[in-house]
Amino acid sequence: MQPKLWSPLSDEYKPPTLLYRNVQLEKMLNYATHPLPSNMFGQGDKGLGKTLTARIFSDEVEARGIGKCYYVKWQRKLTSTLKDLNDNYTLKIRGYTLSTAEICHAIINQTDKNDLCCLIIDEPQNAYSWKDVDRAIFDFYEHFLGQRKFCLIMLSQVRFLTLSQYFAPDTMSRLRLKPILFPSYDAPEIVEIVKQRLQYMLEPNQYDEQALPILAKHVRRIGGDIREALDILEIAVKEANNKLIMEDMISAIEQGKDRWWKTELASLPPHWAFLLYLSALETFERNETMTTQPRVMHQYNRTAKEKGFDPLGRRMVYYAFNKLAEKGYFSQELKGKGRQRITELTLDESDRNHIIRAGKEIEWEFALSQVQT
Ligand SMILES: Nc1ncnc2c1ncn2[C@@H]1O[C@H](COP(=O)(O)OP(=O)(O)OP(=O)(O)O)[C@@H](O)[C@H]1O
Ligand SMILES: [Mg+2]
Repeated sequence: MQPKLWSPLSDEYKPPTLLYRNVQLEKMLNYATHPLPSNMFGQGDKGLGKTLTARIFSDEVEARGIGKCYYVKWQRKLTSTLKDLNDNYTLKIRGYTLSTAEICHAIINQTDKNDLCCLIIDEPQNAYSWKDVDRAIFDFYEHFLGQRKFCLIMLSQVRFLTLSQYFAPDTMSRLRLKPILFPSYDAPEIVEIVKQRLQYMLEPNQYDEQALPILAKHVRRIGGDIREALDILEIAVKEANNKLIMEDMISAIEQGKDRWWKTELASLPPHWAFLLYLSALETFERNETMTTQPRVMHQYNRTAKEKGFDPLGRRMVYYAFNKLAEKGYFSQELKGKGRQRITELTLDESDRNHIIRAGKEIEWEFALSQVQT
């Protein structure tokens, strides 16, 4: 099916009304417009609206004439990050003199005395080294001091409570970052967000609203990532004929799951991913959704011998099982008593099939031989 517009599915699209993030937006505006603005740290998992909310915040700051926002997504290198700021806001600093000091200087020249200058740093965890981020934000803070009202907003998937690992005590005590939390959306919220996009893409009679809750349920299960919801929606719209119906959505979700598991397996430490894959294979071969830790462990050690890679030690394997269970990939249950005690692993049947499909595409020998155990 060809919709009126594809753009509402893109990451750059700005919906006319921000849904379910008004608390965060208001908080940001309150902190920023206070006579002594606070610095902020927006924390939330991927696809939960941090960047979108910050973009709408910027528009609002400028629309209200409070000042100007400078948004930058952190690159691996500080120089690339500064270059992006320089280019995107035409700061006109010559390449070879590019530094945080020069950026501040140019921003000060570009703004008025009473303006609020707000620097939004997205994804600082992309930096090659946190030391770079630490030094840069400290410098920004120092250079604006006494020149402009300044507020720094960082947005990241990193936990607020772990920040002291990354920033020097001096930076932490100067910046006094205030947390802004972006919790996961629940299923009804996901339905409304998706519906908002569909309104701009299709006529009301071109989609069956009944197909949205199953999409929301799936997205909720994987953490509420709206980007994933929109990607699946795109597949569903492409597959639909005259009207987007339940079957289109089910098939799109299945394809979305395949892709999701592929990236998920690839992002896990290779031995953990392999243990998960073996657990799925074990249950599949028995035509069940349940296996046990010793069985998987046995397979793991046998394959290690066969393929000639170093297996993880026993304790590390147990640790991996616990971590995988924590992520919800399977559930663990201790059964039996005394020496008969055994931990059972239970996988969701659909997950099991997707894990196997995704796992078959990985070159395990290569992946496992690359890591030191
Ligand atoms: N509350 C919302 N209303 C409408 N669209 C939303 C909402 N939250 C997220 N989205 C959409 O979901 C996608 C991802 O959102 P966004 O880029 O803001 O996530 P993020 O929290 O910055 O994720 P990441 O940590 O991966 O950068 C975007 O297309 C965005 O428009
Ligand atoms: Mg983002």
